[in-house]
Amino acid sequence: MPGANLPHRFLDNRGGLLYIDGVSAAELADKFDTPLYVLIENRIRENYRRLKDALLKYYDKVRIYYSAKANTNLAVLKILESEGAYLDAVSPGEVFLALKAGFQPDRILFTGTSVRDDELKFLAESGVIINIDSISQLRRLLKIHVPELLSFRVNPEVGAGHHEHVITAGRNSKFGIWESDIVEAYRIALNAGVKRFGIHMHIGSGILDAEPFLLAAEKLLKIAGQIHNKLGITFEFMDFGGGLGVPYSPDEKPLSIDDFAGRMLSLFKSRVGEYHLGEPLFCIEPGRFIVCDAGILLTRVNTVKITPFKKFIGVDAGFNTLIRPAMYGSYHPIIVANRLNEPEKEVYDVAGPLCESGDILARNRVLPEIQEGDLLAILNAGAYGFSMSSQYNSRPRCAEVLVKDGKYAIVRERESLEDLVRGQRIPDWLQS
Ligand code: LLP
Repeated sequence: MPGANLPHRFLDNRGGLLYIDGVSAAELADKFDTPLYVLIENRIRENYRRLKDALLKYYDKVRIYYSAKANTNLAVLKILESEGAYLDAVSPGEVFLALKAGFQPDRILFTGTSVRDDELKFLAESGVIINIDSISQLRRLLKIHVPELLSFRVNPEVGAGHHEHVITAGRNSKFGIWESDIVEAYRIALNAGVKRFGIHMHIGSGILDAEPFLLAAEKLLKIAGQIHNKLGITFEFMDFGGGLGVPYSPDEKPLSIDDFAGRMLSLFKSRVGEYHLGEPLFCIEPGRFIVCDAGILLTRVNTVKITPFKKFIGVDAGFNTLIRPAMYGSYHPIIVANRLNEPEKEVYDVAGPLCESGDILARNRVLPEIQEGDLLAILNAGAYGFSMSSQYNSRPRCAEVLVKDGKYAIVRERESLEDLVRGQRIPDWLQS
């Protein structure tokens, strides 16, 4: 096997050393320590624009809601705010962060499930657009506040995703309102005085094939047609959710964005005409597609352990830092940042520092021969990396740094040991 494969133009091999948009990975690791998430501003912007341009080729009323759960760093939110993106939030915390990053409330769509009354109140006071997940949630909201504009999440009965945990439509899914209840839901809102409407679906995450999106969109458009027929509602926007996949393993093929945009928008335009739905905005809400390959996790090799059966590389990032391999069995590409030109000829398991056997970042990975002190770069770590990290085993969360055109800045400080006790109290009876 030759040296490492670099997936896009912001990762560069300079004499066997990894540079990330012009910045040395080794320098970042020395300066900020490891584990360290490195985010590439130019790649975030490029991914957003690739998607936007592909959609605008086929329709001019398009909105992209960035799904903040993938990466909520304020710098990432600010980058997307400056690109003109809208924002998909799923918790009051995400709304709070989006407002802090400068998103106006009317650019934020809140899609929650199992939402509390005090959260509904917070959302109503913030002025964000609410996407309703159940009739119970609708009734509770209307007691608190009757918004001018309201959207409903439909379960289109077609789900898809890279793992069963991330399929968010279909019979087993807790999300969305079923076709049999949806006209009633809009009727209740209409009778309460809601004036403007949206409609929404999100079928799952990590989808590399346009087919499930098309099947579900067909269903959503049909449902929208029925609502229009029965209640006379026209939709200001139709949101087809996120879920656009990114290839992680070498055998996965990228989703063709042009094919996705062309086929989705041709279906959209034809059904919108057929069902007399006017000219709604076409919206999608990707998270992974925008930030996944714009993030790299740098982790240092502590130990090389050779047993009669396996070669383990012990690194300083575990599932406290990146949970996807342990949680979904996900594959993340790994390259050795200081040995890019060396042949990949040894088979290793890459293990974290946590006291759990499941703390493995990669199994049977072919890499150059590793020495202690080497620096690994775990690729495609920008989505659901830091945002799903924890302090498990009482390890403070790591830092994040943003790079752009050869310069860099810390965008989240590494937590300290003191952060482990922040907010904890010892009751009187335990004080000696
Ligand atoms: N919209 C809604 C309502 C969602 O629930 C999600 C993701 C998205 C948009 C964005 O999906 P994306 O474009 O990023 O696929 N932790 C998992 C992914 C869970 C996604 C949950 N919902 C992972 O690491 O693969």
